[in-house]
Amino acid sequence: MENTNAKGLSHGKIILMGEHAVVYGEPSIALPFPAVEVAVTIAPAEDATIIDCSYYSGIATEMPEILQSLQTAINTALKSLNKENTPLAIQISSTIPPERGMGSSAAVSVAVTRAIYNYFNEELDYDRLLELVDVSEKVAHGNPSGLDAVTTSGDSPVFFRKGHPFVPFDLRLDGYLIVGDTGITGQTKAAVGSIAARLKTEKKVQTEKEIRLLGDLAEQAKQYLETNQPERLGTVMSQAHNLLAELGVSSDELNHLVGAAKQAGALGAKLTGGGRGGCMIALAASEQEAQTISQALQDAGAVKTWITYLNQAVTV
Ligand code: MEV
Repeated sequence: MENTNAKGLSHGKIILMGEHAVVYGEPSIALPFPAVEVAVTIAPAEDATIIDCSYYSGIATEMPEILQSLQTAINTALKSLNKENTPLAIQISSTIPPERGMGSSAAVSVAVTRAIYNYFNEELDYDRLLELVDVSEKVAHGNPSGLDAVTTSGDSPVFFRKGHPFVPFDLRLDGYLIVGDTGITGQTKAAVGSIAARLKTEKKVQTEKEIRLLGDLAEQAKQYLETNQPERLGTVMSQAHNLLAELGVSSDELNHLVGAAKQAGALGAKLTGGGRGGCMIALAASEQEAQTISQALQDAGAVKTWITYLNQAVTV
């Protein structure tokens, strides 16, 4: 018997350290970002599967190219259950701004997969969820590390290395993270592809070194998070931004917001996620400083800002 009131949920994510380098096996640190979320509901449909989301309303097989990873997520989940021919009415609501480094594509795939399993009253174990989401993330990103799927579906900050079990850990840092949205669509797939292309040029050795350095900085950041050293964490965040900019995955807007945050007293600042647009993050020692930095980011053109207390990873 199907569950005609099926639901699937997921949320955004913030990569603190290690984006891009994580694709090449380096460590990374990311946190769930429940301030933005995805909810999917599924009901039976008459003849064909239909989709209702902010980009498209209509028959699933006629979805625009831009929703190809969603299409893949739906097909992958249905196929895994041998239910390819069951028509569904899938409704997706999301408050995650798309292509801003907050894991929107993975979060949509996670919520859709969960909802489809819930509709058919099938158990979905966590490893299976990650395996299924990886298929649509390959369509979205080309060569996903799996980090986005883990953090948009889980509740804990993670230390993640591709191909290794992820390690959940508690944040014990007295610091505030400010997230600033440039309002400009990022290009994760293109950014990931540009580093892959750079590795095939005369910049190969330098690029490999920069990727390794990003991994070292993520290792250091973990230590600073565990031993409550916000100043040191800020320093490695800013160093990571410079390396990411060097690798060609920042943008003028991101650099501008990173500069504005530092000018306003941030302990450190960097882009987060795929880059080339999207969001940046900054670290502040107190809530008052976080408010000042948040205001400075808005004055510098951020279309939206969020503040998260890192000690418990709650958005204030
Ligand atoms: C995108 O949110 C994070 C990247 O490191 C890609 C990935 O990990 O798959 C840029």
